[in-house]
Amino acid sequence: MLTIKIGNRRIKLLNWLIFIAFIVLIVYLLFSLIYLLPIFSKTYNYNLKKDNYELKEKIIFKNAHLKCNVKEIYVLNASDNLVKSAINKDLIEDGFKKKGNSYVRKTNSFGTCKNERKKYLKEHQKNYVSYKLNGNKKDILIYGNKYDDKYVSARINNKSVNDVSVQSNLNEKKVGSYIISYTLNISKYYKQRLYRKVLVVDDEKPNITLEGDREITLDYGKAYVEPGFSATDNYDGNITNKVVVTNKINMKKPGTYKIAYSVKDSSNNSAKEYRIVIIKEKEEKVSREEPKIEEKDGLTYVNGILLVNKTYSLPKNYDPKVNNKALESLKKMQADAKAIGLNLPLVSGYRSYKTQEQLYNKYVKKDGEAIASTYSAKPGHSEHQTGLAFDIGSVDRSFQNTNEAKWIEQNCHLYGFIVRYPKGKTDITGYIYEPWHVRYLGIDVATKVKESNLTLEEYLGVN
Ligand code: DAL
Ligand code: ZN
Repeated sequence: MLTIKIGNRRIKLLNWLIFIAFIVLIVYLLFSLIYLLPIFSKTYNYNLKKDNYELKEKIIFKNAHLKCNVKEIYVLNASDNLVKSAINKDLIEDGFKKKGNSYVRKTNSFGTCKNERKKYLKEHQKNYVSYKLNGNKKDILIYGNKYDDKYVSARINNKSVNDVSVQSNLNEKKVGSYIISYTLNISKYYKQRLYRKVLVVDDEKPNITLEGDREITLDYGKAYVEPGFSATDNYDGNITNKVVVTNKINMKKPGTYKIAYSVKDSSNNSAKEYRIVIIKEKEEKVSREEPKIEEKDGLTYVNGILLVNKTYSLPKNYDPKVNNKALESLKKMQADAKAIGLNLPLVSGYRSYKTQEQLYNKYVKKDGEAIASTYSAKPGHSEHQTGLAFDIGSVDRSFQNTNEAKWIEQNCHLYGFIVRYPKGKTDITGYIYEPWHVRYLGIDVATKVKESNLTLEEYLGVN
């Protein structure tokens, strides 16, 4: 065993080593204990206020085992959620951990906290409130333009700032909200950040193009056919499928209508266009043009229809006998009426000039000319001479109240006939109501005359 001789005493070397180690341990524990005491812990509070956020900082320096433990606690306050989440991201990147409402970062370095505090305070006091955002904290970029960043082109507090790193998710081509974050690397210990919100907005209205005329005039009852339209937008492109068309046209109601075309783009910009549609008044089925009156062999044709009345007569020698087509139609009509129990015997059909002359003279004798002329035509003026007219059912005035008379009125056009002297039209026809007297015109013309509710004279546009 190694021994050390001091004076005349010999001490074992191992005992010496144990003794020294014990002393070192005591000293270490003593120092550690002293530094752990709270009186050596220092806390500083700061409040960093920026345009769009606030950070309350608490920094604690605490000695332990010859090390300096630094604990930074930030409490963040930002009203804009986008700014808030950008700061959150940056703090996490800087090594902070989110704990409830706070962000906490712990660092430690060998040595006493005194030196750490000095370094920190020096940078902090010098720089803490120095930096401000140039330009607006919230910028609006109109879609289609380039963003001109006011920070990097400007100086800060009249000094140029070199060590600024800019991070941005700005997409000028997409409508939305973005954040640009500017990090000022002030020192190894300290950095400060500024945040700007940029909104890319589309404020341009879409454009609606109408095909065809902007004013359309339609005949009564004619259906409106949309000539077409399209819509484009500077941002969304073709948005024709989003066009809402409001069309309240009633083609059975003459008037002026407005068709509205409206569209909204994805940014809610709206556009409207109109088309005017005029529905014309119902055209009376009477020919508006001057009637074409032709005379042929003493017979008068208006628009191709043989007309016989108090104005237009037939030659004395006009003797066509009964018209076969008219007679065939009459027989069909009589048969159909019979099938439903209505009796429509033929009372009088074709009458020659001479027969009419005898008849008329007989009536004049009986009632005088004035009265006779209201129910009997003068010779040459009777439709019966055309072979196209028939008296059916009964020529008694009471006939008008029978089912037969009603049926004739409602159905005779289906066989090509009209009731030639209708009720209430004496001033036009010159004759009393004759529900029994039908005139053959053919189904087409007879139907038109019936639907017009006019006398033949009115329908043709003659007296
Ligand atoms: N009863 C008609 C008017 C005629 O005599 O022809
Ligand atoms: Zn008659």
